[in-house]
Amino acid sequence: MGFDMKICSIGAGYVGGPTMVIIAEQCPEIQVTVTDVNQQRIDAWNSKNLPVYEPGLDEIVQAIRGRNLFFSTDIDKAIKESDIIFLSVNTPTKTYGEGAGKASDLKFIESAVRRIAQVAKTDKIIVEKSTIPVRTAEKIRKILASNTHGCKFEILSNPEFMAEGTAIQDLKHPDRILIGGSQTESGKEAIKTLSEIYEHWVPKNKIITQCLWSSELSKLAANAFLAQRISSINALSALCEKTGADVDEIAISIGADSRIGSKFLKSSIGFGGSCFKKDLLNLVYLCEYFELPEVAHYWNQVVTMNEYQKHRFSYLVVEKLFHSLAGKKIAVFGFAFKKNTNDTRETPAITICQDLMKEQAQLSICDPKVTPETIKRDLDGFSNYEIQTDPYVAAQGAHAIVILTEWEMFKNLDYKRLYEGMQKPAFVFDGRNIVNLQQLRTLGFEAYGVGKPIAG
Ligand SMILES: NC(=O)c1ccc[n+]([C@@H]2O[C@H](COP(=O)([O-])OP(=O)(O)OC[C@H]3O[C@@H](n4cnc5c(N)ncnc54)[C@H](O)[C@@H]3O)[C@@H](O)[C@H]2O)c1
Repeated sequence: MGFDMKICSIGAGYVGGPTMVIIAEQCPEIQVTVTDVNQQRIDAWNSKNLPVYEPGLDEIVQAIRGRNLFFSTDIDKAIKESDIIFLSVNTPTKTYGEGAGKASDLKFIESAVRRIAQVAKTDKIIVEKSTIPVRTAEKIRKILASNTHGCKFEILSNPEFMAEGTAIQDLKHPDRILIGGSQTESGKEAIKTLSEIYEHWVPKNKIITQCLWSSELSKLAANAFLAQRISSINALSALCEKTGADVDEIAISIGADSRIGSKFLKSSIGFGGSCFKKDLLNLVYLCEYFELPEVAHYWNQVVTMNEYQKHRFSYLVVEKLFHSLAGKKIAVFGFAFKKNTNDTRETPAITICQDLMKEQAQLSICDPKVTPETIKRDLDGFSNYEIQTDPYVAAQGAHAIVILTEWEMFKNLDYKRLYEGMQKPAFVFDGRNIVNLQQLRTLGFEAYGVGKPIAG
C-alpha cells in the first residue's frame, strides 16, 4: 500500500512510542516507524506486553500495528525513507565531565543526528521532540552539514508536553502544540508541513508557532513552572504541620483565585518522573553558563525544596515510630512516581525506601504496575525488603503503612481489615493525601498526611 508520507521516530521510549502511536492512529495515510537501538524495547512494542504502560495505549497499538504503524531496530532504513524524523531519544542529566550533575547529556541526540547525516540521501525535516537546552538546533545543524549527499535539512523544535499516566488523553487533546522553526521561507514551509500533521486532530488555534529558540526554551520553562508550583505548595505543607492549618484547604482557597488556578497544587512527598528535576537542573546550568547566578539560584531552590520534602516525610515516619525502625516491618503502598504509570524514574519512593532501609526497617513493597525487576534495579545495594502483589499480605504484621503513590486501589482498600492484621499501635503515613485520616483514626490507626493537622 502506498503512503502519502513517511515519518519515523528515533527513540521508542515513553515519548517516542505514544506520540508516534497517536500520529499513526490519526493519520492513516502516513507511514509511521518507531525505531530504537534497544532490541528488547522494540520486541516488546511488537508483542502483547508493551514496554510502556499508559491507559488506552494498548488498545490503539493492537488495532493499528502493521497497518501504518511499525516498530523496528532498522534505524538506517527508517532514516532513508522518511520525510520527517522525530528525535525522541533520552537527554538525561550529565553524570561526568563539564556540567556533571546539571547539564543535559546530548550524546544520544548527537549520535542519532550523526547517523542521519551519514545515511540520508534525500531532504528531510528533523524534529526535536526530546527536551533539549536552548540553541541545540544550532549544534544539530552543524552536524548535519557533514552529509555528503547534498541533502537539505530543516530543523524544527516540537517539544512534547504530555504527562505520563495521562499520555493518550494529553496527546489526543493537547492544550497546545508548539512548533518552532527558522523564519526563512523553507523554515516556514517545514513548520506548515508539521502543522498539517497535527491539524488532522488538533484545532488550528491550538497550534502555536514560534522562533526556534523560544520553542526550545518554552519546554524547560513550562516544566520549571510546574515543578515550582509543587515545591511552593510543599513548602507551605511544612508550615501547615506546625500551625494546624490544612494544606488541602490552602490549595482550595488559593486555587479559587483565577490568577493562580487550582491545578498542580496537590501537596505530597514531592515530584518525580524523568523530567522535572533534570529539566530544572538543565535550566540552572544554562543560567550559570550565561552568567546569571541569581536566576540559577532561584530555580535551583525548587529542586532543593523537593529533596527536603522527601526526607522530611521519611523523618516523620522515623520520629512517630519512636525513633527506631530497626527490624520493624513497614508496608510500602506504591512505587511508581505517580499513578497510572509503570515509570519509576526519580520516584520519591526510591529516596524514601532507602531512608527507611538505612534505619533498618524491613519493607514490604506493593505496586500494581511496577515490575519486581524495576524495584530491584532501583533499590540496588539494599536487601531488607520484599515485593508483594497483595497489599493485605504486605501489611500483615506490619507496624506501619506508608502510601507513596496515589493509585486508586490504595484509596479503596478495606483499612479495617488491614488494621486487624497489623502490629499495634498501627500507623498510616499518607504521602499523597488520598485517604481520610479521620476515618482511619476512628478505626484505631495513628494516621498522618502531608501538611495535615496532627491529631491532638
Ligand atoms: N517521559 C516524559 O514524560 C517526557 C515528556 C516530555 C518530554 N520528554 C523528553 O523526551 C525525551 C525522551 O524521553 P523518554 O521518557 O521517552 O526517554 P526513554 O529513555 O524512555 O526513551 C528514549 C529511547 O531512545 C533510545 N535511544 C537513545 N539513543 C538512541 C539512538 N542513537 N538511536 C536510537 N535510539 C536511541 C533509547 O534506547 C530509549 O529507548 C527526553 O528528552 C525527555 O526529556 C519526556
